[in-house]
Amino acid sequence: MAKTSSSGSNMRHDPEDESIGTCLVEWFCRNQRPLPWRRHYDPYAVWISETMLQQTQMTKVVPYFERWMDRLPNVRAVAEASLDELLQLWEGLGYYSRVRHLKKAADIILARYGGQIPSDEKALRRLPGIGDYTAAAIASLAFGRDVPVLDGNAQRVTARLLDWEKPVEDSHTKKAFQQALRRWMPPGRAREFNQAVMELGSMVCAPRRPACDACPVFSWCRAYAAGTVPHRPVKTRRLAAEQVTVAVAVLHDNGNVFIQKRPPGGLMAGLWEFPGGKVEEGESPEEAVKRELCEELGVTVKLLGKIAEIRHAVTRFRIRLHAFRCVLDPSGQIPTLRSAVEALWVPPAFLDRFAFPSANRRLIRILQEHSGLDL
Ligand code: ADE
Repeated sequence: MAKTSSSGSNMRHDPEDESIGTCLVEWFCRNQRPLPWRRHYDPYAVWISETMLQQTQMTKVVPYFERWMDRLPNVRAVAEASLDELLQLWEGLGYYSRVRHLKKAADIILARYGGQIPSDEKALRRLPGIGDYTAAAIASLAFGRDVPVLDGNAQRVTARLLDWEKPVEDSHTKKAFQQALRRWMPPGRAREFNQAVMELGSMVCAPRRPACDACPVFSWCRAYAAGTVPHRPVKTRRLAAEQVTVAVAVLHDNGNVFIQKRPPGGLMAGLWEFPGGKVEEGESPEEAVKRELCEELGVTVKLLGKIAEIRHAVTRFRIRLHAFRCVLDPSGQIPTLRSAVEALWVPPAFLDRFAFPSANRRLIRILQEHSGLDL
């Protein structure tokens, strides 16, 4: 039976609201996945796991989380680690600004709060990289505060339970969803309730082909009753994916290869990469790599052959990366850095010690598999 009356306020004690909350909590207690950050709900572990989980799949996060916690068991360890080390632990998770924010926030938590993560949402939101979602997740999961969290999964579940007809991106929608979640949340059970809503969104109330017959709250789901589940949530049109073609050089000299570090700020800041750049219109990848090395490093190069063509997607960009084996021509030129902040000639076996963006790392794997790092 679908609920038809609507209450826009924070009213409690509506028996249907209570039933929804209780069913979700009970369902979570029986069905939750055993994840490493669900062992103790230590605030530091919640902060790290929730930061990693933003824009990243649960199964992908698990090994990263375990490695991070082994190496950096507390806030002080993050504050004392170098950014390079943090980036290496993060390599492959993407959205690298999260790492720089973690580092800055760790410095502040150490200096201002003696290394203890604050429990108050407002104080949390003042820390770098902690927005509404992470602040609410830490406050509720680690400190048991009765605040709702609203990630993509929770949005979908809520939009369906309410059969919400407006786009979820509307500013009004967020407020209405938070109010609904507050109404449903059993007092004192925010930890279980919030995770129940998110877990239900990823395991049952999936974007496509939701398993409504396995849903603990389908009888209160207005979209289920109306037959509109596939049409909820309503989304505004997405920007089309943008194709980008990039050409990079694996530049060899004396048994070493050249790598450079991206500047702070901007995309993939602080990561290492092979030099190169965007292929302009009307240009071949071979011409682009020569031009880019001239512009970026002031050197002329000879191409010895193509190594690989790698397809890769980052956010809404579809990247096609062409990689060429190159040497300086004439030899003996000294690269001057015009956009990178640091550069090194390194033995190929050392490339695993640096943090690279995913497409570059895939290129290194290809080179290693084909012993292609030796000239
Ligand atoms: N998504 C992000 N954090 C989550 C959590 N703690 N439980 C379930 N899904 C999540």
